[in-house]
Amino acid sequence: MSGVNPYIEQPEFKLSKQSFQVTFQPMGKTVNVNPGERLEETDGLPGSLLQLALDNDIDLDHSCGGVCACSTCHVIVRSGLDSCNEATDDEEDMLDLAPGLHPQSRLACQCVPDGTKSIIVEIPEWNRNLVSESH
Ligand code: FES
Repeated sequence: MSGVNPYIEQPEFKLSKQSFQVTFQPMGKTVNVNPGERLEETDGLPGSLLQLALDNDIDLDHSCGGVCACSTCHVIVRSGLDSCNEATDDEEDMLDLAPGLHPQSRLACQCVPDGTKSIIVEIPEWNRNLVSESH
């Protein structure tokens, strides 16, 4: 269940006004995102990579429910990162706890693409078993 973490700076983000695609690797699943489309999953920020993954049956781990209080939703945005909102200091602090940190690492629950570019997201190896078990 989604919620708001009152102990963190609330991130700023813009919702997409145009259609775009997000490809999740390594499974190579591409999802189309259309502006105004109501997503069923509510964990993570609206329009976040976590919400897009869950809404498309990609079972990305998210132990805190998508409120920037863990690092289990760590992903690497391989392409299109500059079309996503800036990470807050709180997100950066949580990311520091994630294994396999990369310059393009983000917390999927806090990362919201603005739709101006296609996105390629890599789900790190330690999270892949969960992904494969969901299919
Ligand atoms: S699910 Fe906990 S930080 Fe994203």
